[in-house]
Amino acid sequence: MLGTASVAALAGWYRDNARDLPWRRPDFDAWGTLVSEIMLQQTQVSRVAVEIDRWLERWPTPADLADAPTHEVLRQWGTLGYPRRALRLQDAARAIVERHGGDVPRDVAALLALPGIGDYTARAVAVFHFGDRHPVVDTNVRRVIARAVHGQGEAGPTARRDLADVEALLPDAPADASVTSIALMELGALVCTARAPRCDACPIADACAWRAAGYPAYEGRRAPR
Ligand code: ADE
Repeated sequence: MLGTASVAALAGWYRDNARDLPWRRPDFDAWGTLVSEIMLQQTQVSRVAVEIDRWLERWPTPADLADAPTHEVLRQWGTLGYPRRALRLQDAARAIVERHGGDVPRDVAALLALPGIGDYTARAVAVFHFGDRHPVVDTNVRRVIARAVHGQGEAGPTARRDLADVEALLPDAPADASVTSIALMELGALVCTARAPRCDACPIADACAWRAAGYPAYEGRRAPR
């Protein structure tokens, strides 16, 4: 079980090891965070890191993107792949202008009500930009939880359990909870990777149920492909 000592060790590890990525700069606003999270869902971090600044220079606010010709939006999306995301992002920008006066809302329910914004993205914006206290769970976090909490090598087919597991780990203070969520994600990306986990570099290895159990092979159900 991961206790407060593990959560504190994880935060310290994040402070010392987090990648310097554009969307982690202090000047990144809520709109930039929303755009980057949609890009990051299906495109590699290194590619998004190259494209995000060009995108935000061209359309720095939801109102700018709402007014842009759609063929220009699709062209600029270019090499990121899955171009339907660009159309959904423009729909979201228009709804932000119409419903929220052009300001990205802070509330998870209001974010979720925007077209094309799913549960992950709504939570990611509320937590990573606004610093609110909610669990944020992506595939990296799901793998860390499966291993450290449940002693299983891979995440199971559904994410429902993971939201409750992460919620149980979050410190009460929203700022600390926000760091915990992003640190779990970074740990899964850099250390607790799917194929070659580096347990020697892991800040929570001492508390990891999968390690304690001798790294059993995964025998549970997998998500359908
Ligand atoms: N930092 C914040 N959100 C992220 C994501 N989705 N992928 C990588 N780093 C992130």
